[in-house]
Amino acid sequence: MKFYIETYGCQMNIYDSEIICSILLKSGFIKTSNLKKADIILLNTCSIREKPEKKIFNRFIKIKGFKKKNKKLKLGIVGCLATHYKKKLFEKLKFLDLIVGPDSYKKLPEMIKKLKNNNKEIDVRLANKERYTKIIPNGVRNGISAFISIMRGCDNMCTFCIVPFSRGREKSRNPNSILKECKLLYKKGYKEIILLGQNVDAYFWKKMKFFQLLELIAKTVPLMRIRFLTSYPSNITKNLLKVVKKYSNICKHFHLPLQSGSTRILSLMRRKYTVEEFLLIIKRIKKIIPDCSISSDIMTGFCTETQEDHRETIRIMNLIKFNFSFMFKYSSRQGTYAYRKLKDNVPNSLKISRLNEIIRLQKSHSFYRLKQNIGKIQEVLIEGISKQDEKSYYGRNYKNDIIVFTKNNSKIGSYKKVTIINSTFTTLIGEIIQ
Ligand code: 5AD
Ligand code: SF4
Repeated sequence: MKFYIETYGCQMNIYDSEIICSILLKSGFIKTSNLKKADIILLNTCSIREKPEKKIFNRFIKIKGFKKKNKKLKLGIVGCLATHYKKKLFEKLKFLDLIVGPDSYKKLPEMIKKLKNNNKEIDVRLANKERYTKIIPNGVRNGISAFISIMRGCDNMCTFCIVPFSRGREKSRNPNSILKECKLLYKKGYKEIILLGQNVDAYFWKKMKFFQLLELIAKTVPLMRIRFLTSYPSNITKNLLKVVKKYSNICKHFHLPLQSGSTRILSLMRRKYTVEEFLLIIKRIKKIIPDCSISSDIMTGFCTETQEDHRETIRIMNLIKFNFSFMFKYSSRQGTYAYRKLKDNVPNSLKISRLNEIIRLQKSHSFYRLKQNIGKIQEVLIEGISKQDEKSYYGRNYKNDIIVFTKNNSKIGSYKKVTIINSTFTTLIGEIIQ
């Protein structure tokens, strides 16, 4: 039986799709990258905001058309939309056969087999333990850099966020299985590991905290680069910073979602820091690791956000000048505290204009940060051929900036020293030092 899988949403989902592939391949299913040849099509979905959700619903409408040509074709929704809507998805999407949540992928082979008799199958239970400890995906991403999920779920309960409901409570993975996966990736020739978790620095296994796990990984695969995301700002400890500083193979990059620059809004969001505390965290990071990059997530138009709150966000962005940010307009998600108790009262047009303003501002900050690299010599890990120019490669420096440079006899997957000679708004231009 042939399966086809399409992935939406964050890196966790990309990793999960690989877990799904491993599970299905092990049970004798065959993977196809041609949707028309598939016996079952799976969409691994995201429900964090309205926009990706709409995209997936539209995609489903297109895909269901294939059922007309292939009467035996089965369609499944897995991931966050499954746990968000549960069996209501069967009502919303008439041609859907299968709904499986992020903690039930091990059941997929058995559930898919049962679909033969025109049954519909659903499992959206969330677990309180990591379920995929023994499943090691083939190696994810581009053959150079791989994701490893080290924890799942979130206990923070930010009032706007669906994650604690769609992915469940925090559950960390056994460090032995993480280390095994790191070693395996190294053996396969991977050069970089990106540790993933909704709240990566909340990792906790028996007595092991995140900084200890990170140190263990840095020592176990000293020739691999290690990145991690996403950090929750108040979980950044001195111990963590010391480990990041100490090991040259740990990248000097922190992804720290600010969400808003107004303490009043942060408190409505139930974030665990004030703006002043966030600034102190940044100060502490920069004191210990001056040449690091800090990126963020910022949201506009959260419930009751005034022009004054928005100006505060602008002020804080100007103070910090993040290297880059992911920026969103708030969309109310059913099931969250904000959906039930707070007023989504910022008009959509205002959410958009505020969003456009912060996007413009961030663009100038990213440019400012990139330009600071000009003239420096940096080590780049070559990831592939540049999309703009096939005579050039692209790769990243230790801060996660993308560098493009002429190939000059170098190889994908190798580390090279480059001089940074220029910068566009998004990318550094380098020259290999022979
Ligand atoms: N509306 C808009 N953005 C959201 N995010 C999470 N929930 C919502 C929502 N309801 C954003 C946050 C988070 C990122 C992953 O997605 O900024 O950090
Ligand atoms: Fe959602 Fe907040 Fe958890 Fe991030 S920390 S996943 S925003 S609840």
